[in-house]
This record gives sequence, structure tokens and C-alpha cells, in this order.
Amino acid sequence: MTAYRPDALIASDISAYLDLHQHKSLLRFLTCGSVDDGKSTLIGRLLYDSKQIFEDQLAALENDSKRVGTQGQAIDFALLVDGLAAEREQGITIDVAYRFFATEKRKFIVADTPGHEQYTRNMVTGASTADLAVILIDARKGVLTQTKRHSYLAHLLGIRHLVLAVNKMDLVEYDQAVFDRIVADYAAFAGSIGIRDFTAIPISGFRGDNVTTRSDAMPWFTGPVLLDHLEIVDVDADADRVKPFRMPVQWVNRPNLDFRGFAGLVASGTVRPGDPVRILPSGRTSSVARIVSMGGDLDVAVAGQSVTLTLADEVDCSRGDVIAAADAPPQAADQFKATLVWMDPAELLPGRAYWLKLGTQTVSAVVRAPEYAIDVNTMARSAAKTLALNDIGVAEIATDRPIVFEPYAESHDLGGFILIDKLTNATVGAGMLEFSLRRAQNVHWQAIEITREAHAQQKGQQPRLLWFTGLSGSGKSTIANLVEKKLYALGKHSFLLDGDNVRHGLNRDLGFTDQDRVENIRRIGEVAKLMTDAGLIVLTAFISPFRAERAMVRSLLAEGEFFEIFVDTPLEEAERRDVKGLYKKARAGEIANFTGISSPYEPPLAPEIRIDTSRTSPEEAAEQIVEAIMGVWSPVL
Ligand code: ADX
Repeated sequence: MTAYRPDALIASDISAYLDLHQHKSLLRFLTCGSVDDGKSTLIGRLLYDSKQIFEDQLAALENDSKRVGTQGQAIDFALLVDGLAAEREQGITIDVAYRFFATEKRKFIVADTPGHEQYTRNMVTGASTADLAVILIDARKGVLTQTKRHSYLAHLLGIRHLVLAVNKMDLVEYDQAVFDRIVADYAAFAGSIGIRDFTAIPISGFRGDNVTTRSDAMPWFTGPVLLDHLEIVDVDADADRVKPFRMPVQWVNRPNLDFRGFAGLVASGTVRPGDPVRILPSGRTSSVARIVSMGGDLDVAVAGQSVTLTLADEVDCSRGDVIAAADAPPQAADQFKATLVWMDPAELLPGRAYWLKLGTQTVSAVVRAPEYAIDVNTMARSAAKTLALNDIGVAEIATDRPIVFEPYAESHDLGGFILIDKLTNATVGAGMLEFSLRRAQNVHWQAIEITREAHAQQKGQQPRLLWFTGLSGSGKSTIANLVEKKLYALGKHSFLLDGDNVRHGLNRDLGFTDQDRVENIRRIGEVAKLMTDAGLIVLTAFISPFRAERAMVRSLLAEGEFFEIFVDTPLEEAERRDVKGLYKKARAGEIANFTGISSPYEPPLAPEIRIDTSRTSPEEAAEQIVEAIMGVWSPVL
């Protein structure tokens, strides 16, 4: 690698320079280690050699002509490193220092985080946006507890690329055996926590070996030097593009009634006008009408671009919603398993509601008692009731409404979140959603199970079974019909099961033997019961000649729900009316087992309501029945 010297291009073709600069990819990386490991020296080396230092206190270096020259460079480098080290010691260490530099090929943001355990939260902050982590090891000391801690955290936060920088090789005589042993040690540990791949480079930050230029002292090393590796490592931007389209909506742009745009950063995938999309969590679908950007409409937008989409339909969509590929939407859930890093001096209070901010979504969330905490030095799990500052643990989280998410392993944008104290507004924790809890969804179902009470409540009534009984032709159906009309007019939800109708369908296999009549009533009783479970006021009009069966149906229902309505028409009267001409036939012996003639009718002994049809018109009867029922209904009705 040759250090980037922009001066010439700036002088000759400023627009070419700017263009080049703008289209360079960006690598965000994190350095893990302590001052002892030579971290400041290494960062200083990278900044200094790349000659693209934008840090305020270092900007002067670039233009100071006195500092050009071999000797000057040495002084500058020492000054720079001193400055970085001093910065660390001045208590700035509790923050994450971001530095920016660039080479011909790439721009870099390096997050310099403190190495000690008490700064775990700082490392988490720095790591949350990093593509790569440089884990520094002092060649004389080998793999230490902190090396493991840093590696674990980097891996936990999903940093895909790890570089093991074995530093201070000059102090171990550039000995390959030392390097090989450290790499073997580290490989064994890394494998044990699931790190599949890392790049090991023997360096000397102090002397510059293998940092930006290849070291003559270690001809046995044939891998890339550090900066070359940083320049070529794949930052997975392409990988994000081939994933399904997702854009969390940042804000809704509605300058006038004719325009409604949804602005946001494309988190993954690509989008084109005409693409079918789904709005989450509502699940409504539409398609992309336009992709609006500063420079005019676009034909396509890809992951990493900030755009405004307009949709073909007037669908509800607001800040916090996610617009996604219609056929591959992310999930929405309200119960999760998550790994948490606690970042506040006040420990986690299980059960307390915090704000959970995931991308553009903010919801109220409760963390349950942790399942376990993880010792960041040994990776051992231990029981924990809470999480204190810098603790890491696994816990279940419940949000007050569904959020759109993806497991953190699949999407840092839709799987990473922070917790905010509602009173102090402080960020108290950071977390990674692992998966939604199907089990919890089931529990949730239980909690709002649609009971018969819920059905009835939704209908604004109490379920009833109005059981009309009486001889054939007594007027059961006529009166039941009138009652149902009145109930309907009152806005009640009802259903009338009528003898003749049911015998054409459900019970068409049944005749009029005693046995069949019993079965007839049993089935009707069960169906009527189910309908009351659905919250309905059910009316049945069957002769139902036997007391035992009527009592059986009564027993299926709760106290007060069953109304036995005896339509008391004497046989003579029913026979005189003979609406269907059946009595005549029965008398003529053409119909066997005819109720009242050749088959018994057992009148109710204590019906809830008795209608004497010789004195009461069907209309009056219906009136009375409705009144009687309303009278005993609770005030809710
Ligand atoms: S129940 O006795 O089993 O309750 P259900 O009410 O279903 O009788 O049916 C009675 C109706 O069936 C009568 O209104 C009449 O129209 C018709 N029917 C036909 N045969 C008979 C019968 N043998 N006895 C009574 N009703 C009969």
C-alpha cells in the first residue's frame, strides 16, 4: 500500500478528487486493547501514515511544512501518539473517540474504545456500528482475559470481521514461533465461542512493521499488512443489497394534499417504482409509485440510500412503520428473547417500563428478570436477578405493541435496540433481539381467549335460550318468529331454530318414534347451547314432548339462561286450526305416532313463561315474552 497523497490530485483536478473521495467505500472499525498493548501507537501509525487526519487537534500536522522530512515525521508521529495516549488518560476514556482517515481506496472511521472491563458499555457503543474489529495482543503476553472479553463482545455485537493484530513483534525478535503459538491459542478460544474466522497479522505499531508497509523483519509472514487488509475487506454492502427490501419510515413528508412521501434509509435490499410492498406491522399492501430524491426521481434505490417513497394507494403508514418487500416481509411481535448490555449505574429493574427504541420505532417495554448473566471474561453463565452497569445477560422482553424486527444476526438495523429510562431519558441498555417467543404468543392468546362472555359482550347482550314447547299447530313457530323480529328491532343478535327446518337438514335422518324424538331434542339442545356460547339469543320451536329432554337441555345451560316457554294450545284448538292438515291425516291413521293423538305430550310443570293462546294473540304473546326476558336481563342489556 502507498499512503494516500491527495495534494497532487487536489491541485490538478479538484472535481476528480472530490468524485473519487465521494465514491470510496467506508469501513467502520473498532480497535480493542489497552494502551499497554500499543493501541494508541497503532492508531497513531494508521492516522499518521495515511496523512488524512481530520481530527481537529491533528489537522495542523498536515499543513505544517516544518514537519516534513524524515526527522520531522518521527517527531510528528511521537507527538501524535502522545496526544492520543494523553487523551485516553484525561478521562475521555469513558467516551468513544471516533477518528476519520482515508486512503486512495477507502474512507475509514475508527472507533477507539477503552479496553477495561468497566468500559464494556463504551466498547458496545463503538462496536454497534463497526464492520471490523482489530483485537490487539501484546506478543510478549499472548491471549489474555481482556482479549477474550473483547473478542466475545465483538462477536456478540455481530462484527463480521476480526483482525488479530499481534503487536510488539519487535520485542520478541520477530519470532514466527511466538506468533504461531498465539494464533493457535486464539484459534482454540475463538472456535469455542463461535468465531469462525479471523485474520492474524504480526505487527509492530511502534516501528511500523506490517501496519501500512510490509516488514522486512518478518519475511515469513505472507499475509496482508494491516492497512491493505482494511482496504480490501468486504464490508458486506453488497450482501445487504441482495437481502429483501426494508425501509423503516423516519418521517412522513406531506407538504400538500397531493403529495405524501415516506422518508427513510433503505436498510436492506433494492426498490424500484412498481414494486409491491407491505407496510408493517399493519400488513397492508401497496406498490411503490415514485422514489423521490434530492436530485430528482430515481429508477432504483439500494441499501444505504436515504430516499422518499410515494405509494400507489392511500394506505396508513407513519413514523416507525417499516415498508418491506410484499412477499418477504420481516416479522412483527411483542415478546422477545434478547441479549442485553446494561449501561447505566442504576441497575435493571425487571418489570419496570422503559422506552425501547429500535430504528425508528419507539415502544414501551418491560424486561423480565434475566434468565442468566454472562461473565464477559470467562463466558460462563450465572443466575442473575438483575443486571448492573456493564453486565451482559439474556432476558425476555415484552413490548406494549408489536414491533417490526429481524433477529440481530440477520439485521443490525431491525434487531438492535436501546433501552431508555422514561424519567431521566438516559440510555440505560443496549440489546440484540434473538427471536420472538412463540410460546409467549400462545400465552398472549390465552390471556385474551375469546370466551362465551367475550362473544356476548361484543354483542352487547347476555346469551339466552328461549325454548318454545307445545303441540303441533299450537303457534310455537308463529310466536317465536314474532319474538325474534322484536329482538332484531332492539338490535339483539338472535337465531331461530325451527322444527320443520331442522328436520330437513341436521336431523333429516330422524322420524317420530320416541327414540328419534329424544335424539332430535338432544341434537337441537347441543346446537342451541353452542349458539349461546357464540353469544346469541337462541329461539327453538319444537314440540319437544318429553319433560326429560327439556330438562336435559335446561341442564346444559347456566342458571337463568334457559327459558321454557309453554305455548299452551289445547289439542281441540290445534286440531280445529289444523294449519297443515296433519291432524286430519293422523285421525285417518295415515300418520303414525302423531303427538296428541297417537303419541304423548307432557306439558311443562313449571315453565318460565306460559302463553294461553286462547286468550292471547301471537302479537301480544311475543310482546309479553320480550318484556319478561328484558325484565330479568341485567341492566347491561
Ligand atoms: S318433536 O316431537 O321431535 O319435537 P318436531 O317439533 O321436531 O317434533 O316436529 C314436529 C313437526 O313435524 C310438526 O309440527 C309437524 O309439522 C311434523 N310432523 C310430522 N309427523 C309428525 C308426528 N308424527 N308427530 C308430530 N309432528 C309431526
